Amino acid sequence: MELIKDIQTMRSYIKRIQEGKIVGFVPTMGHLHEGHLSLIKKGREESDVLVVSIFVNPTQFEPGGDFKSYPRNLEWDMKLAEAEGVDVIFAPSVEEIYPGGYSTFVEVEGHLTSILEGESRPGHFRGVTTILAKLFNIVSPDRTYFGEKDYQQALVVRKLVRDLNLNIEIVPLPTVREQDGLALSSRNSYLTPAERKAATVLYQSLLTAKKDIARGIRDATVISSHMEDLIRGQPLARIDYVAVIDPETLRRVERVEKEVLVAVAAKIGQTRLIDNLKIG
Ligand code: PAJ
Repeated sequence: MELIKDIQTMRSYIKRIQEGKIVGFVPTMGHLHEGHLSLIKKGREESDVLVVSIFVNPTQFEPGGDFKSYPRNLEWDMKLAEAEGVDVIFAPSVEEIYPGGYSTFVEVEGHLTSILEGESRPGHFRGVTTILAKLFNIVSPDRTYFGEKDYQQALVVRKLVRDLNLNIEIVPLPTVREQDGLALSSRNSYLTPAERKAATVLYQSLLTAKKDIARGIRDATVISSHMEDLIRGQPLARIDYVAVIDPETLRRVERVEKEVLVAVAAKIGQTRLIDNLKIG
C-alpha cells in the first residue's frame, strides 16, 4: 500500500496505473471503523485500484464545531486499510487542499441541502460538495462508495455528480451498527460510558416508527411524536430533529402511503449523532 500526501503524486499515480482499470474510491475523514471498512471491502471487490482518502475537511465543520477535536490516527487507519488490501491512502494536508488565497466552492442548491443536516448545520454540505468535487478531480475514480448512515449526504453527492456530468458511479451501502443498534460513527468515541448507553435511543426511536407503521399508523405527526416521546424519556438526549420523509426527494410526508425514510438527529451530552431507517 502507498501513502500519498500531495496532489501531483496522486494524479500521476492514477494516470500511470489507470489504463483500462477500474478505480474505486472511498472518501473518509479517517478514524476508520467497521462502517468505513464495509465501503472499503465492497470497493476492493469491485475495483482494480482502490484509493481511500483520509482528510478531516475543515470547510464542512461549522464555526465552533469539532474540527480541532475530531479524532485523527493516520497510523492506525493505515494498518486497517492495508489489511483490507487498499492500494493507496491519499492523506493530504489542509494546506495542500486549501492553499492560502483559496476561494472556490461547489454548492448543490435547493431543498436537498436546506433541510435536516443542511438546516441544522449551515454551510456543511457546501464544504462536503467542495471537497468531494476536488477529490473526484484528483483521484478520477470510476466508482465511489458512500454509507447510508449519512443518507442525505449520499443524495447530495448523487446530485452533484449528475449536475456536473461527472462520469462517476455512486454506490450507496447500508449502515453498519453495533449489536445494540447504535450506528457506527467516528464521533461515538466522544461518548462517556453513560452516554454510550443512552445513545441507543436514536436507533430505538427509528424502531418505534417501524413498529408504528407495521401496526398501521399512517399519520406522520403521530409517528414523529412517538419518536420524540421516546427520546425525551432519555435525560442525556436532546432532540435536534425527527423527520418522516420521502426517501428520494427528502420532502416531509403527511401520510405514510409508500416507502419512507425516518431520520433523527440528537445530542447525547455534547455529541451530536444522526441516524435513519428506510421503512417499506
Ligand atoms: P466520514 O464520516 O469519515 O464517513 C466516510 C464514509 O463512511 C461516508 O460515506 C459515511 O456515510 C460512511 N459511514 C460512516 N459511518 C458508517 C456506518 N456506520 N455504516 C456505513 N457507512 C458509514 O462522510 C464523511 O466522512 C465526509 O463527509 C466525506 C464524505 C469524507 C467528505 O469530507
